[in-house]
Amino acid sequence: MKVLVINGPNLNLLGSREPEVYGRKSYAALTEYIKKTAELLRIEADIRQSNSEGEIIDALQSASASYDGIIINPGAYTHYSYAILDAIKAVDIDVLEVHLSNIAAREEFRKVSVTAPACVGQISGLGFYGYRAAMGYFSEREEMANE
Ligand code: DQA
Repeated sequence: MKVLVINGPNLNLLGSREPEVYGRKSYAALTEYIKKTAELLRIEADIRQSNSEGEIIDALQSASASYDGIIINPGAYTHYSYAILDAIKAVDIDVLEVHLSNIAAREEFRKVSVTAPACVGQISGLGFYGYRAAMGYFSEREEMANE
């Protein structure tokens, strides 16, 4: 079971960026958390972060053949990138959207995710745990398929 985790713009600034919203833990701490969770669930997880829309689209386009699922936090692109929406629609594996903060409880523009309709689901507001929940989904889906 192989999962690709894609983190979008400004997530590399975790810890220093609006800590009251995103917490004080760094991006390195998030990647450690994801790696530890992957080990626990016996998932192979590749983690990428990009501030650029094109790179995120390239990562989505090349994922189909190599991964069983994708976890994506598109950052602010969530709210307006029809290009990322189209790229998610074009991949033939499940994509699960994750947000650290509760986007439903923030500014009006953040309440809309243009990318979520192409995803299997969305997890929002649970901080780092959202990534664990997303990996738990893929792991349990695999177990059920093998039953
Ligand atoms: C975010 C929420 C977005 O609105 C914001 O632009 C981000 C982070 C989150 O994880 O809570 O960059 O995706």
